[in-house]
Amino acid sequence: MTDASPQSEGDLAFFEDLQPPASDFRADVLAGLSRPQKALSPKYFYDKTGSEIFDRITQAPEYYVSRTEIALLDRIGPELRDLAGPAAVVLEPGAGSSVKIRKLIDALDRPAAFVGMDISGDHVKAACRDIASDHPDLLVGAVCHDFTQGIDLSALPLPDGRRVVFFPGSTIGNFELDGALALLQTLRGWLRDGDALLIGVDLRKDGATLEAAYDDAGRATADFNYNLLKRINVELDGTLDPSGFDYRAFWNPYRSRVEMYLQASRDMAFSVAGQDFMIRKDETIHTENSHKFTVDTFQDLARKAGLAPRTQWVSDGEPFSIHWLEVSGEA
Ligand code: AVJ
Repeated sequence: MTDASPQSEGDLAFFEDLQPPASDFRADVLAGLSRPQKALSPKYFYDKTGSEIFDRITQAPEYYVSRTEIALLDRIGPELRDLAGPAAVVLEPGAGSSVKIRKLIDALDRPAAFVGMDISGDHVKAACRDIASDHPDLLVGAVCHDFTQGIDLSALPLPDGRRVVFFPGSTIGNFELDGALALLQTLRGWLRDGDALLIGVDLRKDGATLEAAYDDAGRATADFNYNLLKRINVELDGTLDPSGFDYRAFWNPYRSRVEMYLQASRDMAFSVAGQDFMIRKDETIHTENSHKFTVDTFQDLARKAGLAPRTQWVSDGEPFSIHWLEVSGEA
């Protein structure tokens, strides 16, 4: 349901609530912990505390990803302005860092609208309200939505104009390659002729740099992982003991990804939502992958999804890429 009354949503032109049911979290966690390789989905990291810890990660000296992408966005702002043209309609699935979307909005030529989407309704509402109050001429809407699920954009009151779907942060790297392809196909489905997907993609680099970035000395990334166990304890009546786990991150060059795990330091029995589990000493819970691409491996994937690479930029310093992709007719 779309609530289009401005009084009830502050400065937002609309708020569409497609909040995923809490039962999804329970079912996903129980299924993940029942697998031979225990696993949890990284999309559940981002409760309120998790989002705050993620902000700490982005400040960690070893985590080059966010600051490198922000510097690159600064550098390419004038080119983005030319590519997008005036009155663009900007959509951001997984609206995260308002620093990046603000840079894009400020770079563009009088954009017509911005729609932020996030799995956390409170987060996306607050972030979009802030942007609305700083940009009185911009139509701003918010959608509470899990972007891995489909959404019918025709249900949103969007103005006409070139759509620019903004997907920064290398979030695409969280997905296995088939999932990444499916997500690119979903985003491709939001585009019409002349529209674009502007996506940030982290690039392969040496293993030591990657392992430091995903296991910072300040322990922000470790805390991010422990917070997921605490979230399970609170929301799913769990009895996991975070102090019985060590956080591990390693670069897997064969699969071109950083893999993150919580490793049990002793045998432990625990329960979640009334279901009993056992984890053995040294056994792991796989919490996240962060795939790293080359410009070519990413663009090949984009082409498979029916997206034509038009321009790409690579950062100074640690290599990180931003791609401007357009619909290619097929797929
Ligand atoms: C938000 C998925 C892009 O993979 O770099 C950072 C998440 N996890 N440190 C990444 C993350 C641990 C991040 N993404």
